[in-house]
Amino acid sequence: MSNVTVVDSERPDDHVIVLFGATGDLAKRKILPGLFHLAVAGLLPTNYRIIGSTPLAYAMSTDAFRSYARDVVRQFGTNEPSGETWETFVRSLDFAPADPGDATALRRALDAAEASIGGEVRRLMHLAVPPDAVFSMIEMLGASGLNERTRVICEKPFGTDLDSARRLNDVIKANFDETQVFRIDHFLGKESIDNILALRFANRLFEPLWNREHIAFVQIDVPETLSIENRGAFYEETGAFRDMVVSHLFQVLGFIAMEQPNSLEAGPLRDEVHKVFESLAPVDPANVVRGQYEGYVDEDGVSRHSQTETFVALRVAVENTRWKGVPFYLRTGKCLAQSRQVITVGFNEPVMRLFPAGDHEPSWRGNRLVVDFADPGSIRAHFLAKEPGPRMSLDSAEMTFHYRDSFCAANNLEAYEHLILEAMLGHRSLFTRSDGIERLWEVAAPLLKDPPPVVRYAKGTWGPSAIDRLVEPYEWCLPQ
Ligand code: BG6
Repeated sequence: MSNVTVVDSERPDDHVIVLFGATGDLAKRKILPGLFHLAVAGLLPTNYRIIGSTPLAYAMSTDAFRSYARDVVRQFGTNEPSGETWETFVRSLDFAPADPGDATALRRALDAAEASIGGEVRRLMHLAVPPDAVFSMIEMLGASGLNERTRVICEKPFGTDLDSARRLNDVIKANFDETQVFRIDHFLGKESIDNILALRFANRLFEPLWNREHIAFVQIDVPETLSIENRGAFYEETGAFRDMVVSHLFQVLGFIAMEQPNSLEAGPLRDEVHKVFESLAPVDPANVVRGQYEGYVDEDGVSRHSQTETFVALRVAVENTRWKGVPFYLRTGKCLAQSRQVITVGFNEPVMRLFPAGDHEPSWRGNRLVVDFADPGSIRAHFLAKEPGPRMSLDSAEMTFHYRDSFCAANNLEAYEHLILEAMLGHRSLFTRSDGIERLWEVAAPLLKDPPPVVRYAKGTWGPSAIDRLVEPYEWCLPQ
Protein backbone atom coordinates (compact mmCIF):
# COMPACT_ATOMS: atom_id res chain seq x y z
CA MET A 1 0.00 0.00 0.00
CA SER A 2 1.42 3.38 -0.99
CA ASN A 3 1.94 6.31 1.31
CA VAL A 4 -0.36 9.28 1.34
CA THR A 5 0.60 11.87 -1.26
CA VAL A 6 -0.92 15.28 -1.58
CA VAL A 7 -0.47 16.46 -5.14
CA ASP A 8 -0.03 20.09 -6.01
CA SER A 9 -2.80 20.67 -8.56
CA GLU A 10 -5.92 22.70 -9.23
CA ARG A 11 -8.84 21.41 -7.15
CA PRO A 12 -12.17 20.78 -8.86
CA ASP A 13 -15.35 22.69 -7.88
CA ASP A 14 -17.74 20.97 -5.49
CA HIS A 15 -19.31 17.96 -7.19
CA VAL A 16 -21.86 15.20 -7.02
CA ILE A 17 -20.45 12.22 -8.88
CA VAL A 18 -22.87 9.58 -10.11
CA LEU A 19 -21.33 6.25 -10.95
CA PHE A 20 -23.59 4.22 -13.24
CA GLY A 21 -22.55 0.57 -13.31
CA ALA A 22 -21.37 0.97 -9.72
CA THR A 23 -20.96 -2.75 -9.10
CA GLY A 24 -19.51 -3.61 -12.51
CA ASP A 25 -15.97 -4.73 -13.24
CA LEU A 26 -14.62 -1.30 -14.18
CA ALA A 27 -16.06 0.42 -11.10
CA LYS A 28 -14.71 -2.36 -8.91
CA ARG A 29 -11.16 -2.46 -10.29
CA LYS A 30 -10.55 1.13 -11.30
CA ILE A 31 -13.14 3.74 -10.47
CA LEU A 32 -13.98 3.27 -6.79
CA PRO A 33 -10.32 2.64 -5.83
CA GLY A 34 -9.31 5.53 -8.12
CA LEU A 35 -11.76 7.98 -6.55
CA PHE A 36 -10.43 7.07 -3.13
CA HIS A 37 -6.85 7.60 -4.30
CA LEU A 38 -7.88 11.04 -5.56
CA ALA A 39 -9.31 11.75 -2.10
CA VAL A 40 -6.05 10.65 -0.48
CA ALA A 41 -4.05 12.77 -2.91
CA GLY A 42 -6.17 15.82 -1.99
CA LEU A 43 -7.57 16.04 -5.52
CA LEU A 44 -11.29 15.52 -4.94
CA PRO A 45 -13.35 18.68 -4.48
CA THR A 46 -13.54 20.19 -1.01
CA ASN A 47 -17.17 19.06 -0.87
CA TYR A 48 -18.29 16.01 -2.78
CA ARG A 49 -20.85 13.20 -2.72
CA ILE A 50 -20.63 10.00 -4.74
CA ILE A 51 -23.81 8.15 -5.70
CA GLY A 52 -23.48 4.57 -6.89
CA SER A 53 -26.20 3.51 -9.29
CA THR A 54 -27.32 0.31 -11.01
CA PRO A 55 -30.59 -0.81 -12.61
CA LEU A 56 -33.33 -1.48 -10.05
CA ALA A 57 -32.84 -5.24 -10.44
CA TYR A 58 -29.35 -4.97 -8.89
CA ALA A 59 -30.12 -2.29 -6.29
CA MET A 60 -28.55 -2.38 -2.83
CA SER A 61 -28.72 -0.27 0.31
CA THR A 62 -26.30 2.58 0.94
CA ASP A 63 -24.76 0.59 3.82
CA ALA A 64 -24.21 -2.40 1.54
CA PHE A 65 -22.65 -0.12 -1.10
CA ARG A 66 -20.30 1.42 1.48
CA SER A 67 -19.16 -1.97 2.63
CA TYR A 68 -18.75 -3.10 -1.01
CA ALA A 69 -16.63 0.00 -1.66
CA ARG A 70 -14.41 -0.81 1.33
CA ASP A 71 -13.85 -4.35 0.01
CA VAL A 72 -12.94 -3.29 -3.52
CA VAL A 73 -10.68 -0.45 -2.38
CA ARG A 74 -8.86 -2.91 -0.14
CA GLN A 75 -8.59 -5.48 -2.94
CA PHE A 76 -7.77 -3.28 -5.93
CA GLY A 77 -6.62 0.08 -4.55
CA THR A 78 -3.24 1.43 -3.56
CA ASN A 79 -4.45 2.99 -0.31
CA GLU A 80 -5.73 1.18 2.76
CA PRO A 81 -9.42 2.08 3.42
CA SER A 82 -8.89 3.43 6.93
CA GLY A 83 -8.20 6.67 8.73
CA GLU A 84 -9.81 10.06 8.52
CA THR A 85 -9.78 10.38 4.71
CA TRP A 86 -11.49 7.02 4.36
CA GLU A 87 -14.14 7.96 6.93
CA THR A 88 -14.92 11.15 4.99
CA PHE A 89 -14.90 9.24 1.70
CA VAL A 90 -17.17 6.45 2.89
CA ARG A 91 -19.63 8.90 4.44
CA SER A 92 -19.86 10.62 1.04
CA LEU A 93 -21.12 7.41 -0.61
CA ASP A 94 -24.77 6.89 -1.30
CA PHE A 95 -26.70 4.47 -3.49
CA ALA A 96 -29.71 5.02 -5.76
CA PRO A 97 -30.96 2.77 -8.57
CA ALA A 98 -31.99 4.13 -11.96
CA ASP A 99 -33.75 2.44 -14.86
CA PRO A 100 -33.95 3.94 -18.34
CA GLY A 101 -37.63 4.76 -17.78
CA ASP A 102 -37.42 5.70 -14.10
CA ALA A 103 -34.93 8.12 -12.60
CA THR A 104 -37.05 8.97 -9.52
CA ALA A 105 -34.81 7.44 -6.86
CA LEU A 106 -31.69 8.84 -8.46
CA ARG A 107 -33.23 12.30 -8.73
CA ARG A 108 -34.15 12.18 -5.04
CA ALA A 109 -30.63 11.09 -4.02
CA LEU A 110 -29.08 13.74 -6.23
CA ASP A 111 -31.28 16.51 -4.77
CA ALA A 112 -30.36 15.41 -1.24
CA ALA A 113 -26.65 15.27 -2.09
CA GLU A 114 -26.73 18.71 -3.66
CA ALA A 115 -28.68 20.17 -0.74
CA SER A 116 -26.11 18.76 1.69
CA ILE A 117 -23.33 20.53 -0.21
CA GLY A 118 -25.33 23.68 -0.98
CA GLY A 119 -25.18 25.97 -4.02
CA GLU A 120 -25.11 25.16 -7.72
CA VAL A 121 -23.09 21.99 -7.48
CA ARG A 122 -21.49 20.44 -10.54
CA ARG A 123 -22.56 16.96 -11.59
CA LEU A 124 -20.30 14.31 -13.07
CA MET A 125 -22.06 11.23 -14.45
CA HIS A 126 -19.77 8.33 -15.24
CA LEU A 127 -21.43 5.79 -17.55
CA ALA A 128 -19.53 2.60 -16.80
CA VAL A 129 -22.30 0.52 -18.38
CA PRO A 130 -22.42 -2.12 -21.12
CA PRO A 131 -22.46 -0.74 -24.70
CA ASP A 132 -26.11 -1.63 -25.34
CA ALA A 133 -27.22 0.26 -22.20
CA VAL A 134 -25.53 3.54 -23.13
CA PHE A 135 -28.22 4.79 -25.53
CA SER A 136 -31.06 4.41 -23.04
CA MET A 137 -29.05 5.87 -20.15
CA ILE A 138 -28.16 8.98 -22.16
CA GLU A 139 -31.79 9.40 -23.16
CA MET A 140 -32.87 8.93 -19.56
CA LEU A 141 -30.46 11.67 -18.40
CA GLY A 142 -31.84 14.02 -21.05
CA ALA A 143 -35.51 13.21 -20.43
CA SER A 144 -35.24 13.63 -16.65
CA GLY A 145 -33.31 16.91 -16.79
CA LEU A 146 -30.24 15.29 -15.28
CA ASN A 147 -28.22 16.72 -18.16
CA GLU A 148 -28.16 20.17 -16.53
CA ARG A 149 -24.91 21.31 -14.85
CA THR A 150 -23.66 17.87 -15.86
CA ARG A 151 -20.54 16.52 -17.42
CA VAL A 152 -20.85 12.98 -18.66
CA ILE A 153 -18.01 10.47 -19.02
CA CYS A 154 -18.76 7.88 -21.70
CA GLU A 155 -16.87 4.61 -21.82
CA LYS A 156 -15.69 2.87 -24.96
CA PRO A 157 -16.60 1.16 -27.21
CA PHE A 158 -18.05 4.12 -29.10
CA GLY A 159 -20.03 2.00 -31.52
CA THR A 160 -18.89 -1.04 -33.42
CA ASP A 161 -18.73 0.52 -36.88
CA LEU A 162 -19.34 3.85 -38.58
CA ASP A 163 -23.14 3.58 -38.55
CA SER A 164 -23.45 2.68 -34.89
CA ALA A 165 -20.89 5.35 -33.91
CA ARG A 166 -22.93 7.94 -35.78
CA ARG A 167 -26.13 6.79 -34.10
CA LEU A 168 -24.48 6.99 -30.67
CA ASN A 169 -23.10 10.46 -31.39
CA ASP A 170 -26.56 11.58 -32.56
CA VAL A 171 -28.15 10.44 -29.29
CA ILE A 172 -25.41 12.13 -27.28
CA LYS A 173 -25.79 15.37 -29.26
CA ALA A 174 -29.57 15.33 -28.82
CA ASN A 175 -29.18 15.26 -25.04
CA PHE A 176 -25.91 17.06 -24.28
CA ASP A 177 -23.84 19.90 -25.58
CA GLU A 178 -20.49 18.58 -26.91
CA THR A 179 -18.66 20.58 -24.19
CA GLN A 180 -20.37 18.39 -21.58
CA VAL A 181 -19.18 15.11 -23.08
CA PHE A 182 -15.99 13.31 -22.07
CA ARG A 183 -15.35 10.18 -24.17
CA ILE A 184 -12.78 8.33 -22.18
CA ASP A 185 -9.93 6.30 -23.68
CA HIS A 186 -7.88 5.40 -20.64
CA PHE A 187 -4.68 4.98 -22.66
CA LEU A 188 -4.69 8.78 -23.03
CA GLY A 189 -4.54 9.08 -19.24
CA LYS A 190 -1.36 7.05 -18.92
CA GLU A 191 1.66 9.09 -17.79
CA SER A 192 3.93 7.74 -20.52
CA ILE A 193 1.45 8.48 -23.28
CA ASP A 194 1.03 12.08 -22.13
CA ASN A 195 4.79 12.23 -21.84
CA ILE A 196 5.03 11.65 -25.60
CA LEU A 197 3.90 15.27 -25.93
CA ALA A 198 6.65 16.42 -23.56
CA LEU A 199 9.27 14.21 -25.17
CA ARG A 200 8.50 15.56 -28.61
CA PHE A 201 7.54 19.16 -28.04
CA ALA A 202 9.57 20.16 -24.97
CA ASN A 203 12.90 18.85 -26.32
CA ARG A 204 14.96 19.74 -29.37
CA LEU A 205 16.66 16.35 -29.17
CA PHE A 206 13.98 14.26 -30.86
CA GLU A 207 11.52 16.45 -32.75
CA PRO A 208 13.88 17.47 -35.60
CA LEU A 209 14.32 13.74 -36.35
CA TRP A 210 10.63 12.89 -35.98
CA ASN A 211 9.78 12.40 -39.66
CA ARG A 212 10.21 10.20 -42.73
CA GLU A 213 13.74 11.48 -43.35
CA HIS A 214 14.98 9.79 -40.20
CA ILE A 215 12.36 7.32 -39.02
CA ALA A 216 12.15 3.94 -40.74
CA PHE A 217 9.14 2.50 -38.88
CA VAL A 218 7.00 2.78 -35.77
CA GLN A 219 5.66 -0.17 -33.79
CA ILE A 220 2.88 0.06 -31.20
CA ASP A 221 2.84 -3.28 -29.49
CA VAL A 222 0.42 -4.26 -26.71
CA PRO A 223 0.54 -8.03 -26.14
CA GLU A 224 -1.39 -9.31 -23.13
CA THR A 225 -1.04 -12.56 -21.20
CA LEU A 226 -4.64 -12.06 -20.02
CA SER A 227 -7.33 -14.13 -21.69
CA ILE A 228 -10.78 -12.73 -22.36
CA GLU A 229 -11.45 -13.39 -18.65
CA ASN A 230 -15.21 -13.69 -18.11
CA ARG A 231 -16.09 -11.36 -20.98
CA GLY A 232 -16.98 -14.01 -23.59
CA ALA A 233 -20.26 -12.45 -24.70
CA PHE A 234 -18.78 -8.95 -25.00
CA TYR A 235 -15.57 -10.11 -26.63
CA GLU A 236 -17.26 -12.36 -29.16
CA GLU A 237 -19.06 -9.30 -30.58
CA THR A 238 -16.00 -7.09 -30.33
CA GLY A 239 -12.66 -8.81 -31.01
CA ALA A 240 -9.15 -7.47 -30.61
CA PHE A 241 -9.34 -4.92 -33.44
CA ARG A 242 -12.38 -3.09 -32.10
CA ASP A 243 -11.48 -3.59 -28.43
CA MET A 244 -7.90 -2.37 -28.63
CA VAL A 245 -6.90 -0.95 -32.01
CA VAL A 246 -9.80 1.39 -32.76
CA SER A 247 -10.08 2.42 -29.14
CA HIS A 248 -6.55 2.61 -27.83
CA LEU A 249 -3.76 1.96 -30.34
CA PHE A 250 -4.99 4.46 -32.93
CA GLN A 251 -5.19 7.11 -30.20
CA VAL A 252 -1.58 6.41 -29.25
CA LEU A 253 -0.66 6.64 -32.94
CA GLY A 254 -2.37 10.05 -32.99
CA PHE A 255 -0.01 11.37 -30.29
CA ILE A 256 3.06 9.92 -32.00
CA ALA A 257 2.23 11.23 -35.45
CA MET A 258 0.60 14.62 -34.74
CA GLU A 259 2.07 17.99 -35.63
CA GLN A 260 2.89 20.38 -32.80
CA PRO A 261 -0.34 22.05 -31.62
CA ASN A 262 -0.34 25.79 -30.88
CA SER A 263 -1.18 24.99 -27.26
CA LEU A 264 -2.16 22.06 -25.09
CA GLU A 265 -5.75 23.30 -24.91
CA ALA A 266 -8.40 20.84 -26.08
CA GLY A 267 -9.14 22.71 -29.33
CA PRO A 268 -5.66 22.85 -30.90
CA LEU A 269 -4.48 19.54 -29.47
CA ARG A 270 -7.46 17.52 -30.63
CA ASP A 271 -7.41 19.30 -33.99
CA GLU A 272 -3.88 18.02 -34.60
CA VAL A 273 -4.78 14.47 -33.54
CA HIS A 274 -7.79 14.66 -35.84
CA LYS A 275 -5.60 15.67 -38.79
CA VAL A 276 -3.59 12.47 -38.25
CA PHE A 277 -6.79 10.42 -38.34
CA GLU A 278 -7.79 12.26 -41.53
CA SER A 279 -4.43 11.25 -43.04
CA LEU A 280 -4.69 7.60 -42.04
CA ALA A 281 -5.13 5.42 -45.11
CA PRO A 282 -8.08 3.00 -44.94
CA VAL A 283 -6.91 -0.29 -43.46
CA ASP A 284 -6.10 -2.75 -46.26
CA PRO A 285 -7.15 -6.29 -45.20
CA ALA A 286 -4.05 -7.58 -47.06
CA ASN A 287 -1.95 -5.83 -44.40
CA VAL A 288 -3.72 -7.47 -41.48
CA VAL A 289 -3.14 -10.76 -39.67
CA ARG A 290 -5.98 -11.93 -37.45
CA GLY A 291 -5.43 -14.71 -34.94
CA GLN A 292 -7.45 -16.67 -32.43
CA TYR A 293 -5.94 -18.51 -29.47
CA GLU A 294 -6.48 -22.24 -29.29
CA GLY A 295 -9.39 -22.97 -26.99
CA TYR A 296 -11.14 -19.61 -27.52
CA VAL A 297 -14.17 -21.35 -29.04
CA ASP A 298 -14.64 -23.32 -25.80
CA GLU A 299 -14.96 -20.15 -23.67
CA ASP A 300 -18.36 -19.27 -22.21
CA GLY A 301 -20.43 -17.00 -24.43
CA VAL A 302 -18.40 -17.81 -27.55
CA SER A 303 -19.68 -19.52 -30.71
CA ARG A 304 -18.05 -22.89 -31.47
CA HIS A 305 -17.45 -21.62 -35.02
CA SER A 306 -16.31 -18.18 -33.99
CA GLN A 307 -14.28 -16.09 -36.41
CA THR A 308 -13.68 -13.39 -33.80
CA GLU A 309 -10.01 -12.46 -33.53
CA THR A 310 -8.27 -12.49 -30.16
CA PHE A 311 -5.13 -11.20 -31.85
CA VAL A 312 -4.50 -8.67 -34.56
CA ALA A 313 -1.38 -7.28 -36.19
CA LEU A 314 -1.56 -4.70 -38.95
CA ARG A 315 0.40 -2.23 -41.00
CA VAL A 316 -1.11 1.20 -41.49
CA ALA A 317 0.06 4.32 -43.29
CA VAL A 318 -0.19 7.99 -42.43
CA GLU A 319 -0.38 9.72 -45.78
CA ASN A 320 1.09 13.14 -45.10
CA THR A 321 4.37 14.92 -45.75
CA ARG A 322 5.82 13.98 -42.39
CA TRP A 323 5.08 10.26 -42.55
CA LYS A 324 4.61 9.22 -46.20
CA GLY A 325 6.28 5.81 -46.65
CA VAL A 326 6.84 5.12 -42.94
CA PRO A 327 5.01 1.95 -41.89
CA PHE A 328 3.19 1.96 -38.56
CA TYR A 329 2.91 -1.59 -37.22
CA LEU A 330 0.30 -2.28 -34.55
CA ARG A 331 -0.07 -5.55 -32.66
CA THR A 332 -2.20 -6.67 -29.74
CA GLY A 333 -3.79 -9.88 -28.53
CA LYS A 334 -4.87 -12.07 -25.66
CA CYS A 335 -3.08 -15.10 -24.14
CA LEU A 336 0.27 -14.04 -25.56
CA ALA A 337 3.74 -14.64 -24.17
CA GLN A 338 4.08 -11.36 -22.25
CA SER A 339 2.04 -8.38 -21.11
CA ARG A 340 3.77 -5.30 -22.49
CA GLN A 341 2.80 -1.84 -23.73
CA VAL A 342 5.58 -0.61 -25.94
CA ILE A 343 6.11 1.95 -28.68
CA THR A 344 9.28 1.52 -30.71
CA VAL A 345 10.45 4.23 -33.04
CA GLY A 346 13.04 2.72 -35.40
CA PHE A 347 15.45 5.20 -36.98
CA ASN A 348 17.13 4.82 -40.35
CA GLU A 349 20.67 3.49 -40.56
CA PRO A 350 23.42 6.09 -41.02
CA VAL A 351 24.03 6.92 -44.66
CA MET A 352 27.66 5.71 -44.60
CA ARG A 353 28.95 2.45 -43.09
CA LEU A 354 32.13 3.86 -41.59
CA PHE A 355 32.64 1.22 -38.95
CA PRO A 356 33.51 -2.42 -39.60
CA ALA A 357 30.88 -4.92 -38.49
CA GLY A 358 31.49 -5.90 -34.86
CA ASP A 359 31.10 -9.41 -33.44
CA HIS A 360 28.08 -8.52 -31.29
CA GLU A 361 26.63 -5.76 -33.37
CA PRO A 362 23.04 -6.21 -34.60
CA SER A 363 22.69 -6.63 -38.38
CA TRP A 364 20.40 -3.60 -38.56
CA ARG A 365 22.18 -0.49 -37.41
CA GLY A 366 19.29 1.92 -36.96
CA ASN A 367 18.82 3.42 -33.50
CA ARG A 368 15.63 2.73 -31.60
CA LEU A 369 13.70 4.80 -29.12
CA VAL A 370 11.50 2.60 -26.96
CA VAL A 371 8.67 4.04 -24.87
CA ASP A 372 7.39 1.46 -22.42
CA PHE A 373 4.03 2.85 -21.38
CA ALA A 374 2.89 0.17 -18.94
CA ASP A 375 2.82 1.91 -15.55
CA PRO A 376 5.25 3.08 -14.22
CA GLY A 377 6.86 3.31 -17.67
CA SER A 378 10.28 4.06 -19.11
CA ILE A 379 12.01 5.46 -22.16
CA ARG A 380 15.04 3.73 -23.58
CA ALA A 381 17.31 4.98 -26.36
CA HIS A 382 19.25 2.21 -28.08
CA PHE A 383 22.39 3.21 -29.90
CA LEU A 384 25.74 1.77 -30.97
CA ALA A 385 28.91 2.41 -28.98
CA LYS A 386 32.53 1.50 -29.39
CA GLU A 387 33.50 -1.55 -27.38
CA PRO A 388 36.40 -0.80 -25.04
CA GLY A 389 39.69 -2.13 -26.39
CA PRO A 390 42.14 -1.54 -29.20
CA ARG A 391 39.73 -2.48 -31.99
CA MET A 392 37.15 -0.11 -33.43
CA SER A 393 34.24 -2.48 -33.02
CA LEU A 394 30.68 -1.65 -32.07
CA ASP A 395 28.15 -3.10 -29.68
CA SER A 396 24.61 -2.13 -28.64
CA ALA A 397 24.26 0.32 -25.79
CA GLU A 398 21.31 2.11 -24.19
CA MET A 399 20.28 5.10 -22.10
CA THR A 400 17.17 4.69 -19.95
CA PHE A 401 14.76 6.94 -18.07
CA HIS A 402 12.58 5.12 -15.53
CA TYR A 403 9.46 6.83 -14.23
CA ARG A 404 9.82 4.71 -11.09
CA ASP A 405 13.07 6.49 -10.19
CA SER A 406 12.02 9.92 -11.35
CA PHE A 407 11.49 13.14 -9.41
CA CYS A 408 7.71 12.91 -9.70
CA ALA A 409 7.03 9.19 -9.14
CA ALA A 410 5.10 9.84 -5.91
CA ASN A 411 2.57 11.99 -7.79
CA ASN A 412 1.67 9.25 -10.23
CA LEU A 413 -2.03 8.93 -10.92
CA GLU A 414 -3.43 5.81 -12.52
CA ALA A 415 -4.94 6.51 -15.97
CA TYR A 416 -8.58 6.52 -14.82
CA GLU A 417 -7.79 8.72 -11.81
CA HIS A 418 -6.05 11.21 -14.03
CA LEU A 419 -8.92 11.35 -16.52
CA ILE A 420 -11.71 11.57 -13.92
CA LEU A 421 -9.83 14.49 -12.39
CA GLU A 422 -9.48 16.12 -15.83
CA ALA A 423 -13.23 15.70 -16.41
CA MET A 424 -14.07 17.30 -13.05
CA LEU A 425 -11.82 20.22 -13.99
CA GLY A 426 -13.52 20.47 -17.39
CA HIS A 427 -10.26 19.83 -19.27
CA ARG A 428 -11.06 18.02 -22.51
CA SER A 429 -7.64 17.68 -24.16
CA LEU A 430 -7.21 14.03 -23.21
CA PHE A 431 -10.69 12.94 -24.29
CA THR A 432 -11.61 11.77 -27.75
CA ARG A 433 -13.84 13.69 -30.13
CA SER A 434 -16.91 12.42 -31.96
CA ASP A 435 -15.57 13.27 -35.43
CA GLY A 436 -12.27 11.54 -34.63
CA ILE A 437 -14.08 8.39 -33.62
CA GLU A 438 -16.21 8.42 -36.73
CA ARG A 439 -13.10 8.89 -38.87
CA LEU A 440 -11.43 5.87 -37.22
CA TRP A 441 -14.45 3.70 -38.03
CA GLU A 442 -14.25 4.97 -41.60
CA VAL A 443 -10.58 3.95 -41.75
CA ALA A 444 -11.50 0.56 -40.29
CA ALA A 445 -14.37 -0.07 -42.74
CA PRO A 446 -12.50 -2.13 -45.41
CA LEU A 447 -11.23 -4.54 -42.77
CA LEU A 448 -14.62 -4.86 -41.07
CA LYS A 449 -16.21 -5.56 -44.46
CA ASP A 450 -13.68 -8.10 -45.62
CA PRO A 451 -11.69 -9.53 -42.69
CA PRO A 452 -9.08 -12.20 -43.46
CA PRO A 453 -9.83 -15.54 -41.78
CA VAL A 454 -8.47 -16.02 -38.26
CA VAL A 455 -5.35 -18.16 -37.86
CA ARG A 456 -5.06 -20.27 -34.69
CA TYR A 457 -2.12 -19.67 -32.37
CA ALA A 458 -0.98 -21.49 -29.26
CA LYS A 459 -1.45 -19.69 -25.95
CA GLY A 460 1.75 -18.21 -24.56
CA THR A 461 3.26 -17.44 -27.99
CA TRP A 462 3.57 -14.17 -29.93
CA GLY A 463 0.68 -14.93 -32.29
CA PRO A 464 0.53 -16.48 -35.79
CA SER A 465 3.87 -16.71 -37.63
CA ALA A 466 2.45 -14.72 -40.59
CA ILE A 467 3.12 -11.56 -38.60
CA ASP A 468 6.82 -11.79 -39.41
CA ARG A 469 6.16 -11.24 -43.11
CA LEU A 470 4.01 -8.24 -42.24
CA VAL A 471 6.97 -6.29 -40.81
CA GLU A 472 9.61 -7.27 -43.40
CA PRO A 473 12.31 -5.97 -43.95
CA TYR A 474 12.18 -5.19 -40.20
CA GLU A 475 11.42 -7.42 -37.23
CA TRP A 476 9.07 -7.15 -34.30
CA CYS A 477 11.03 -5.37 -31.59
CA LEU A 478 9.42 -7.48 -28.86
CA PRO A 479 10.36 -9.78 -27.24
CA GLN A 480 14.01 -8.65 -27.56
C1 BG6 B 1 -9.51 -2.41 -22.14
C2 BG6 B 1 -9.79 -3.61 -23.00
O1 BG6 B 1 -10.08 -1.27 -22.71
O2 BG6 B 1 -8.10 -2.25 -22.01
C3 BG6 B 1 -9.14 -4.86 -22.39
O3 BG6 B 1 -11.20 -3.81 -23.10
C4 BG6 B 1 -7.66 -4.61 -22.16
O4 BG6 B 1 -9.34 -5.97 -23.25
C5 BG6 B 1 -7.44 -3.32 -21.37
O5 BG6 B 1 -7.14 -5.71 -21.43
C6 BG6 B 1 -5.97 -2.96 -21.24
O6 BG6 B 1 -5.86 -1.85 -20.41
P1 BG6 B 1 -4.73 -1.62 -19.31
O7 BG6 B 1 -5.38 -0.86 -18.23
O8 BG6 B 1 -4.22 -2.96 -18.88
O9 BG6 B 1 -3.71 -0.82 -19.97
